[in-house]
Amino acid sequence: MNDGNATGKVLLIGAGPGDPELLTIKAVNAIAGADVIVYDYLVNPEILAHSRRGAELIYAGKRAGEHSMSQDEINQVLIARARRGQIVARLKGGDPFIFGRGGEEAEALVEAGIGWEVIPGISSGVAAAAYAGIPLTHRGYSSSVAFITGHGSGTGFSRGVDWRVAAHAADTLVIFMCADTIAAIARDLVASGRRPATPVALIRWGTYQHQEVYTGTLDDLIGIDEAGGLSVEPPAIAIVGEVVALSGKLNWLNSDAFALSPISNIAVAGAISDSVEEVSYAASCD
Ligand SMILES: C[S@@+](CC[C@H](N)C(=O)[O-])C[C@H]1O[C@@H](n2cnc3c(N)ncnc32)[C@H](O)[C@@H]1O
Repeated sequence: MNDGNATGKVLLIGAGPGDPELLTIKAVNAIAGADVIVYDYLVNPEILAHSRRGAELIYAGKRAGEHSMSQDEINQVLIARARRGQIVARLKGGDPFIFGRGGEEAEALVEAGIGWEVIPGISSGVAAAAYAGIPLTHRGYSSSVAFITGHGSGTGFSRGVDWRVAAHAADTLVIFMCADTIAAIARDLVASGRRPATPVALIRWGTYQHQEVYTGTLDDLIGIDEAGGLSVEPPAIAIVGEVVALSGKLNWLNSDAFALSPISNIAVAGAISDSVEEVSYAASCD
């Protein structure tokens, strides 16, 4: 904990990947004690039910291309409310310090002299893989895992992540924010020496009831894209590496709703699921 000058405080809370039961006890208690809750698009709205009666709920958005508040505006709200003496729960999907701008918000709070804490959450990078039956490490297949952003990729090797390096950063690659870029990333990974037959899973809405898991290879992704058929709607996360091949055996959810699909199904299924995304999006704006 960082004791600032103000009486109020900001709690940067990880809301987990979606399944509302994947919330820590510490997070539940913090939400229940907050005066104001500032929450993002990828926070399951069911989690807001832990807030106390009368707590103010502020939707901060952050859906790609639809920022309802800028990062600076969010920082200002957090600071202003804490200065009023309020306890502010800043709820973020997954873990606040994994591609969640939690670090930037914490820096702004430090600079403003506001007291703050961070409550880690279960990142989608870990949970979506687990719900798809993919162990990110395994003594037989993977001794390392890397979390990488796919955002800003897809323009060859010129921008964002250097995939020539990232391709060999770890046995298992977990690629966030890759819905628009995964085909270009697959090409870069193969060009950088990953086998075309390397197994890949694309997981949409991981840990939600409407989770979708698509499995195939890097080569499949490239082939579908070249045929004009690859269309992935966010939120999606990609897992690349030999451990993905275990999903067929370890698909513990193993029901019709959670069946694995071949990657070639993603164009069709992604289109159907847009309606689910819109419903969830609307609910999170309430
Ligand atoms: C801004 S990042 C936030 C990551 C978050 N802090 C975490 O630890 O999971 C948003 C990206 O996380 C991934 N993501 C978050 N929740 C997800 C879910 N339930 N299923 C699949 N991917 C998810 C997607 O790649 C999405 O584009």
